[in-house]
Amino acid sequence: MSATSPLRPVLPPDIRARKGSAPLVVLTAYTTPMARLVDAHCDIALVGDSLGMVLHGLPSTLGVTMEMMILHGRSVVRGCGKAMVVIDMPFGSYEESPEQAYRNAARLMAETGAPAVKLEGGAHMADTIAFLTKRGVPVMAHVGLTPQAVNTLGGYKVVGRDDEADRVMQDALAVQEAGAFSVVLEKVPMGLAGRITKALDIPTIGIGAGVGCDGQVLVIDDMLGLFTEFRPKFVKRYAELGRTADEAIATYAAEVRACTFPADEHSFPDQLPAKGPKS
Ligand code: KIV
Repeated sequence: MSATSPLRPVLPPDIRARKGSAPLVVLTAYTTPMARLVDAHCDIALVGDSLGMVLHGLPSTLGVTMEMMILHGRSVVRGCGKAMVVIDMPFGSYEESPEQAYRNAARLMAETGAPAVKLEGGAHMADTIAFLTKRGVPVMAHVGLTPQAVNTLGGYKVVGRDDEADRVMQDALAVQEAGAFSVVLEKVPMGLAGRITKALDIPTIGIGAGVGCDGQVLVIDDMLGLFTEFRPKFVKRYAELGRTADEAIATYAAEVRACTFPADEHSFPDQLPAKGPKS
């Protein structure tokens, strides 16, 4: 593929260069079929560690492993021809030391083919981000609410009101300084997210952070309405696929019980119809 091919996949420098131009469109994807849908419309397909809750029924992202991220990362890379794939580093795979982070980030990239990783944390992760970016690992940072720290934060709360605002701003500046090519702002108050976006040279990607960010990300199952009970304020449901699936399964169950499925058109006759004479 030539460097000028319209099918060249999006890479971290392209995302970095999008600062101040058209908003970046990001959705999570965890499987090849969803990745194909995301690839058709989005700039980035994020293999979020939210897959632990969304696909595997875990109570939080803390139980997600490298093996899970590699398995789903590979299947998303297979479904994307244009959108850039970013893979979350799971809890416990990068916090211990920059060397541990490098080993696991390199493994995620080498074993999936994704060109970038995402990790959670602000100023305290700056050394690690610098270590990775200097060694060929493009990093998307993630500040504000960092779900892997749910137990120290005391829940999935808005982060950055009142006294916390300056710390979130400093976190965003620190990850930029360390070399991150973009930063997710999660559950950050909209005014603060707008100020951070203006202060940074790298794109901000908001989730529950208002319209003033350089791009937006949502968990795909949330925006498709695949969960019937989970409705956080920051999620707009663009479809109600959970309800549609429930109705379809209920109809199937009723038809199987009533012996109206399968009908003849879904079954194979014992003999094929005789072919007519050739004219
Ligand atoms: O894990 C995830 O899906 C995420 C996004 C929602 C930002 O980190």
